[in-house]
Amino acid sequence: MADTHKVRFEPVGIEIDADEDETVLDAAFRQGVMLIHGCKEGQCSACKSFLLDGDLQMGRYSTFALPDFEKDEGYVLLCRSHAYSNVEIELVNYDEDMIRSGLPVITVQTEVASVAELTHDISLLRLKLPAEHAFRFHPGQYVDITIPGTDEHRSFSMANISAAEGILEFIIKRYPGGKFSGLLENGLSLGIPLEVTGPYGTFTLRVSSDRRLVFVGGGAGMAPILALLRQMAESGNQREAVYYYGARTEGDLFHLEELAHLTEQLGGFRFVPCLSESRPPDWAGESGLVTDVLRRCEQNLAACEVYLCGPPPMIDAALPLLQDMGVPEDQIFFDKFTVTAAAED
Ligand SMILES: Cc1cc2nc3c(=O)[nH]c(=O)nc-3n(C[C@H](O)[C@H](O)[C@H](O)COP(=O)(O)OP(=O)(O)OC[C@H]3O[C@@H](n4cnc5c(N)ncnc54)[C@H](O)[C@@H]3O)c2cc1C
Ligand code: FES
Repeated sequence: MADTHKVRFEPVGIEIDADEDETVLDAAFRQGVMLIHGCKEGQCSACKSFLLDGDLQMGRYSTFALPDFEKDEGYVLLCRSHAYSNVEIELVNYDEDMIRSGLPVITVQTEVASVAELTHDISLLRLKLPAEHAFRFHPGQYVDITIPGTDEHRSFSMANISAAEGILEFIIKRYPGGKFSGLLENGLSLGIPLEVTGPYGTFTLRVSSDRRLVFVGGGAGMAPILALLRQMAESGNQREAVYYYGARTEGDLFHLEELAHLTEQLGGFRFVPCLSESRPPDWAGESGLVTDVLRRCEQNLAACEVYLCGPPPMIDAALPLLQDMGVPEDQIFFDKFTVTAAAED
C-alpha cells in the first residue's frame, strides 16, 4: 500500500492526508477541502500553487498551464502533484469560505431516469441516484460522469439545487461525435448505469454578500446559473440580479417559462436574452454577442459580483472585458466548459 503524508496549506493553515498514489487535489477533495481548480488535468493552471517545503512530484501537464520558468521557481499544479514526504504548500488562489464549506467527493452509481430535447442541440438529462445515497452538493457545482465502457469522464454542472429527491439534472449540449454528449442522440436508454464522481467546483453563490449580481451565460452554461437562480428563489434571496444569456437564434432559447416565473419570484431580477444571429422582427431582447451586450448595457460593474458560465470563447472574451470595466478579480466567478484534451509532457 502507498505511504500517506501530511499536506499543509498556507496561509489558511489547513492540513490533510495524501496517499502517494493520489494527487494532492484529489486528496483535498476526498477530505472535503474545496481548493480552487478548473480542468483537473494539468491544462488550465487554476490549481497553481507554490511548494514551500517537501517532496512533491508532478505527472504530465501542459506547459501552457505551468511554463518551465515557473516550475523552476517552485510553482506546482496540485491536480498533477503527488506527495512523497510531508509537504507545505502556499495556495496562490483561494477562497477561505469555499475551502471550508467543501463536501467530500464520492463516487456513486446512477442510472438514466430521462433524456429530453430542450433545443435542436441541447438536452436535459436526469440521473437517478441509488436509494441509499449520501450524495450532496452545493447549487452551482458539477460532477464527472464516466463515459460508459471507458475510463474517461466528462464534467457536467447540475441544474437542480440538491439531491434530496434522488435526482441529478443536467443541461447538455450535443456535439456530433462527442464521446459523451453524442450518446444523448440515441445511445442512452432509460436505466443505463452511469458512474458519477463529485461534487466539484466553486461556482456557488456567496450568500453572505449583498452585492448586485450579474450572470452571463451561453449555451449549456445555463445549467449552474439556473441552479443559483433556483436557489435564490427557494431561499427568498431578493438581491438585485440580471442574467445576460447568449444564443444564436430564438430557437436556441429554452426554459423561458421558468425564467419568466423566476423574474416574478425574485424581486429585483431581470433576464436579458441576447441573439447574435437571426432575430425575429418583433424581437424584444438584445442583439449581438452576449459580451458586446454586456459592455453596451452595463456602465458600472465595479461593485457587482459577476458569475460567468459557458463555452471557452465566451469566458475568454468576458474576462478581459470585466477587467476593463473595473470588476475586481475576487468578485468574478466562472466555470469554463473546457473540452477534454490529451496532456503534453
Ligand atoms: C467544469 C465543467 C463543467 C461543464 N459542464 C457542462 C454542462 O453542464 N453542460 C455541457 O454541455 N457541457 C459541460 N461541460 C463540457 C463537457 O464536460 C464536455 O467537454 C462536452 O460535453 C464535450 O464532451 P464530449 O465527450 O461530448 O465531446 P468530445 O468527444 O470531448 O469532443 C468531440 C468534439 O466535439 C467538439 N467539442 C466538444 N466540446 C466542445 C466545446 N465546448 N466547444 C466547441 N466544440 C466542442 C470538438 O470538436 C471536439 O473535438 C463542462 C466542462 C467543465 C470543465
Ligand atoms: S485544475 Fe490543475 S491545471 Fe487545471
